[in-house]
Amino acid sequence: MLRNSGSQSPSGSPGIADLPHLGPVEAEHVQRLIATHAAVVGVVGQGYVGFGLAQRAAQVGFCTVGVDINPSAVLDCIRRNECDAYNATTDPAVLAECDVILIAVPTPTRIDDGVRHSDLGYVVAAAEAIAAQFADDRRPRLVVSESTYAPGTTREVVMPILRRTRGGAGIAVGYSPERIDPGNGRFDLSAIPKVVSGADDCAAALTACFYRELVDQVVPASSMEAAEATKLLENTFRFVNIAFAQEFDEYCEALRLSSHEITRLAATKPFGYLPFFAGAGVGGHCIAEDPYFLYDSMREHRVAAPLVATAMMNQENRPAVIVRRITERLGSCSIRAAHILVLGVAYKPDIGDTRRSPAFPVIDLLERAGAAVDYHDPHVPAFGARTSVDLESADPRAYDLVVVLTEHSAFDQRALQARGWDPYRLSAPATATAGPPRWR
Ligand SMILES: NC(=O)c1ccc[n+]([C@@H]2O[C@H](COP(=O)([O-])OP(=O)(O)OC[C@H]3O[C@@H](n4cnc5c(N)ncnc54)[C@H](O)[C@@H]3O)[C@@H](O)[C@H]2O)c1
Repeated sequence: MLRNSGSQSPSGSPGIADLPHLGPVEAEHVQRLIATHAAVVGVVGQGYVGFGLAQRAAQVGFCTVGVDINPSAVLDCIRRNECDAYNATTDPAVLAECDVILIAVPTPTRIDDGVRHSDLGYVVAAAEAIAAQFADDRRPRLVVSESTYAPGTTREVVMPILRRTRGGAGIAVGYSPERIDPGNGRFDLSAIPKVVSGADDCAAALTACFYRELVDQVVPASSMEAAEATKLLENTFRFVNIAFAQEFDEYCEALRLSSHEITRLAATKPFGYLPFFAGAGVGGHCIAEDPYFLYDSMREHRVAAPLVATAMMNQENRPAVIVRRITERLGSCSIRAAHILVLGVAYKPDIGDTRRSPAFPVIDLLERAGAAVDYHDPHVPAFGARTSVDLESADPRAYDLVVVLTEHSAFDQRALQARGWDPYRLSAPATATAGPPRWR
């Protein structure tokens, strides 16, 4: 039996939004709808996370509707849809008919006065759009946010908006961070353990109940704040470690060693080490953004964060380091007159996502230095105003340097060489051909 046993807020006295809003009878009604797959599921935001989530819900048998403000995203979802139980629309009014509503909208960063900050604008707008559909009805519902942000955001920002109307009094609110890893064929959504939480015991139980239908394993958190913080810890852990891998890579470059070789060697240790490989920098909608949500929250709580701040600086400087290496690699050819072909512009290997890709600042810096830059990426047909160069028809002699920025598996060195291309790889020291490792 689901019971409301009060707020789980770690911060002490409950506010209005902390108070339990679903009675046991309403909660059991929602639970029954979930257990019998009779619940109608709405997923707000049909991007990378939301579409996959909605497809999974439809796949297990829920009648599911994806809602997105972007009409072309909706058309794309309808084109890619693989389930009869799924539909997509730009009209948020369909949410009035939903028993379970999931939020999967962007949480980007923005730059104010040269400083990068977390931006909750999309989350606030999505919560407003959902609340507007509740109007006066008191239909019991479960609303769960999957967007990534700082601890306290669901309780202090999302919940008050959702519960502004009388209809909002009938909802249980939960939080469950999304952990999907683009391009990772080994772990699909159902195979990744899902951390679940709720504003109170009842909401936590309903959230767990719903996700048990979608994934193999749910892991209850003691509070929404703990679940929110879990996601920031996971991604900032990667961010800081990648920054260290990049710093170590600089050191290896000075010693004419390959940081990738050494990382692979270190990874043979069966305990106490996790491999992180240096590349052109971090990108995407998670690793490049989430640490700023943690950093802003740490600052707000007056916690010094020198390690995170240094990692941020390292990441911001990485494109300049890459351009310096490219310039050195060009040797006697001046960067001002160089024609450069970049291989790979996606933010990581074997996917076509270019959001916050380090290729943007790298190409920008190269062009500002005077170079003419083309790119080829089998996963990215267009990149800004550019289109991908066809390697089959292009002439390698037209370029002063070909450099791999993103290590797609299609860029196998031997296969490229067989086709006349001999690219410089950031993973190999720029001076590798000049002799043995430099000791001092
Ligand atoms: N991409 C990832 O790998 C990943 C992994 C884990 C977690 N996350 C987190 O999940 C969240 C969503 O990320 P994403 O990668 O799916 O973003 P995305 O940009 O791919 O998709 C978000 C979608 O939300 C839509 N949208 C924005 N405001 C809306 C509104 N008010 N109503 C309806 N639709 C709206 C946008 O049009 C867009 O299509 C973010 O908080 C992100 O940090 C992302």
